[in-house]
Amino acid sequence: MATLSIRDLDLHGKRVFIRVDFNVPLSIDGGEILDDTRIRETLPTIEFALRAKARVILAAHLGRPKGERVESMSLRPVVDRLRMLLDADLGASRNVAFSPDCVGNIAHELVDHLEYGQALLLENLRFHSGEEKNDPEFAKELASLADVYVNDAFGAAHRAHASTEGITHFVPQSAAGLLMEKELNYLGKALDQPDRPFVAIIGGAKVSDKIGVIENLLNKVDAILIGGGMAYTFLNAKGQKTGKSLLEADKVELAASTLKRAEDKGVRLLLPVDHVLADRFASDAHAEVFDSTGDFPADKMALDIGPKTVELFTEEVRGARLIVWNGPMGVFEMPAFSRGTVAIAQAVAANEDATTIVGGGDSVSAVHAAGVADRISHISTGGGASLEFLEGQTLPGVTALTQR
Ligand code: 3PG
Repeated sequence: MATLSIRDLDLHGKRVFIRVDFNVPLSIDGGEILDDTRIRETLPTIEFALRAKARVILAAHLGRPKGERVESMSLRPVVDRLRMLLDADLGASRNVAFSPDCVGNIAHELVDHLEYGQALLLENLRFHSGEEKNDPEFAKELASLADVYVNDAFGAAHRAHASTEGITHFVPQSAAGLLMEKELNYLGKALDQPDRPFVAIIGGAKVSDKIGVIENLLNKVDAILIGGGMAYTFLNAKGQKTGKSLLEADKVELAASTLKRAEDKGVRLLLPVDHVLADRFASDAHAEVFDSTGDFPADKMALDIGPKTVELFTEEVRGARLIVWNGPMGVFEMPAFSRGTVAIAQAVAANEDATTIVGGGDSVSAVHAAGVADRISHISTGGGASLEFLEGQTLPGVTALTQR
């Protein structure tokens, strides 16, 4: 059964409570939004509700204030950006209101004053401890602001919090927003009906962060390409000594059994065949390519995949019809060690015959830095949520939605 969608609802004049993920990166003092992608990606849902003449209540978290009011984590800067974006899109001022608290008298008063087709953003939900505790009383208070509930916060759907799960027990209908639907369609299709060849590219520092995804994807993919710091634990499992490179010694056995499982399943699991080595973990470290399956010099560490690996991975990517990419191939934030990740971003974007899905902060930054974001089929707004989804876990914020 499919989940109820915002498109199934009669929104006219209703108080529509939309949980959004406005957890955007801010400058240290909290004054400036450094990346507004998550706000932009939610606009279709907000505009849909405004056009339907709903009274729109937007709720979100920002950072981890742990149940206390922390001024640098206020959503105030977000409301200014939201007004600007909505005005530019809709061509008229929507005058989005802001409530300095997400519950209580002030929130109720402001909701009561909302006109049809007007929106209100509530202050950070996590200023109240009831949010993360999924406290039923707090969830009920949030629900008292709403006639219907819409969850568009895919990025927070892996959290069973009051605004993502608890609230659904106190409202008559809980529907998915347009962004939530889009995320579930892309990621769901990848897991359930993948076009083939299906190639996954998994990177990042730690095996322990990604092993769940790798294990689940081994049941689905034709090939899996592993880069980033965690590749060195896998190479150790194959007997190659990797100098001072990242190594999770307690995960070497796990990596060995994953290699074996891939082989048993007939999945091609490719590891880097050459490396960019450095003498220390620094952007100005001396870098050199190490092109050998022999042991690394003991005093060197790998900080990026080398050019042969880029070629090998690009060849796999070129023939794919579905590509899922999560995690960088090297220390992407240091220009000297970003080439591998940028080259993979370019290779993924160049395959116009494939559905391409990118998730996770650094790989998303890489497609932007490589200037190819508009050539990717779907860039997920969920970091942790997309990982848990790809691990095959159910997301509480999705399970809680009403079935059609
Ligand atoms: C995210 O940024 O991944 C989501 O907004 C969830 O935030 P959290 O990890 O603080 O729960």
